[in-house]
Amino acid sequence: MANGLRTHTITLRGLRITLRPLTGADYPLIVPWYQDPEVLFFSEGAEVHSYSPSETISILEEISQTAHCFMIEAGGRPIGEIALQRMNLPLLLARHPGRDVRRMPVTIGEKGCWGKGFGTEAIRLLTRFAFTDEKVDILYAVGIGSYNPRSLRAFARVGFLVDGSQPSTHHGAATIDYDLRLDRSSWTDLPPPGTGVQSPLR
Ligand SMILES: CC(C)(COP(=O)(O)OP(=O)(O)OC[C@H]1O[C@@H](n2cnc3c(N)ncnc32)[C@H](O)[C@@H]1OP(=O)(O)O)[C@@H](O)C(=O)NCCC(=O)NCCS
Repeated sequence: MANGLRTHTITLRGLRITLRPLTGADYPLIVPWYQDPEVLFFSEGAEVHSYSPSETISILEEISQTAHCFMIEAGGRPIGEIALQRMNLPLLLARHPGRDVRRMPVTIGEKGCWGKGFGTEAIRLLTRFAFTDEKVDILYAVGIGSYNPRSLRAFARVGFLVDGSQPSTHHGAATIDYDLRLDRSSWTDLPPPGTGVQSPLR
């Protein structure tokens, strides 16, 4: 059970987007994103078609207990949210004893903003914060479906590679869920854009 939203005071500025602390005042913006079947098709592994406002608030509050939660703004307009969250999956934690392992859930809820580079920039900004400020050892993006090439590609752009995969089903169809991983020891900031980034699927 969550204890309200735990917030912070960090703002990260990029070229086209800003990550600023998510607060309770953002709930009315986020609730419609969590009710949009098209957004949830990509962001949820299970067959979730809609979250009620109270479910959305519970999810955000729960994540915030162990995460820095940010709103993604483009041109001053909130378009999505992203978090740097302590790893909570026992299997992945068990593989890295004594290491600081985190995960990075991301949702651009404004669908008109998909495919314009905002997600990649948000992931890049938060990855830099994770490795340079927080000294995180290992970052994961967990359970990205093979039906979600935008997400796979956005994380790949920042240097994430496939660390594991599991067969799964998604809305009745067979799929593969990928766990992508990036270690601080192998991270290079700002890989040059447009220089033939490899697909994470090898
Ligand atoms: C996943 C998400 C954060 C990506 O952010 P985005 O701003 O849409 O993505 P970007 O524009 O930064 O990057 C998308 C990449 O995928 C590519 N891409 C875009 N549409 C694509 C498509 N239909 N098929 C294949 N690749 C596609 C783009 O060309 C780009 O790659 P490139 O930089 O090598 O050219 C965003 O789309 C989103 O929130 N989607 C809904 C929720 C979700 O999927 N969350 C993640 C769950 S793991």
